[in-house]
Amino acid sequence: MTPKLFTPLTLKGITLRNRIAVSPMCQYQGVDGLPTDWHPAHYLSRARGGAGLVVVEATAVSPEGRITPACLGLWNESHAAALKPIVDGIKAAGSVPGIQIGHAGRKASANVPWAGDDHIPEGDPRGWEPIAPSAMAFGDALPRVPREMSKADIIRVREDFVSAAKRARDIGFEFLMLHFAHGYLAQNFLSPWSNQRTDEYGGSAENRARFMLETLESVRAVWPEHLPLAARFGVIEFDDRDEETLAESIAMAKRFKELGLDFLDVSMGFSTPTAKIPWGPGQLREISHRVLHESGLPGSTSWNINSPALAEQMLQEGAADLVMIGRPMLANPHWPFAAARELGVPNPASTLPPSYAHWLSRYHFD
Ligand SMILES: Cc1cc2nc3c(=O)[nH]c(=O)nc-3n(C[C@H](O)[C@H](O)[C@H](O)COP(=O)(O)O)c2cc1C
Repeated sequence: MTPKLFTPLTLKGITLRNRIAVSPMCQYQGVDGLPTDWHPAHYLSRARGGAGLVVVEATAVSPEGRITPACLGLWNESHAAALKPIVDGIKAAGSVPGIQIGHAGRKASANVPWAGDDHIPEGDPRGWEPIAPSAMAFGDALPRVPREMSKADIIRVREDFVSAAKRARDIGFEFLMLHFAHGYLAQNFLSPWSNQRTDEYGGSAENRARFMLETLESVRAVWPEHLPLAARFGVIEFDDRDEETLAESIAMAKRFKELGLDFLDVSMGFSTPTAKIPWGPGQLREISHRVLHESGLPGSTSWNINSPALAEQMLQEGAADLVMIGRPMLANPHWPFAAARELGVPNPASTLPPSYAHWLSRYHFD
């Protein structure tokens, strides 16, 4: 029997050839928000490697929304034009092109991970002033205090999401993921760790949810009805209010669904450096199962899905409809082919484009 990992998945008007996605992963190789020669090399090799979906890294909706100066952006037409060949190349390799759009909030203006992963010092011309719901820093690793956003800032950033979504649509992306996780701007609004506002965007769960809900609603209005709209959502912090956070997250996911969200990626909040994250294989397995089942949304999850067998088990038990594979895809762009062999798919090369498949079929290779 074909493993579930290698069965197609239809989401609205698109069908993925299998249930393996390349999780969005910042490459920190951009210049002024533009991709460089690195990006097509990276993304197209993963598409050729057989993944059903390739999600392009967190792409900023505005310059101050970049995590680092080397992050990608989609705030003007030259960004869109530069991303178009990547979209076309992913399609040519038989994958569905997706993109994650986001705003880094109080974690913006940081050095790339291999140069410290910390904030660029104030006054350094490489950096900029981060903005966030409240003037509260993340912690010692990212100590810069952001400027509290005005109402005008909130409306402007929401519209930046809409403009970026339109650009993604116009250059042919078929899967759009809103970044509602990982301690970036949308999560900054949702989490009491980063939101102490006293207006309608802070305080009660309803008010903290407002930025995400308004952003989702505005983006849905411009994202084509026949294409899936997704969100990566930080459903848990692993702090001392996990049950409350999870209950709020499930209630939010249901509202996302009502507002037209099609797909939920279950992830973590990363709102505090004091979180006690239970790192380990399939660490979000049960949580993802619960959130997806209680919300009624199809979805995915990631984090240490460290073997094809674990990916298959998680799909079988309903912890996800699709697995987002991150670091294993960096190690091996042909992870899907390796997984097919490991799971005993009768002709594992059939997971690859024909230019490779023919030569790697059982007859020629094994
Ligand atoms: C180099 C790198 C960059 C990442 N960049 C992003 C990103 O742009 N957006 C995002 O939501 N997650 C990002 N992540 C998280 C991954 O998408 C993924 O959720 C995480 O690595 C867990 O999956 P894994 O255990 O298979 O690596 C990144 C992870 C890595 C390793």
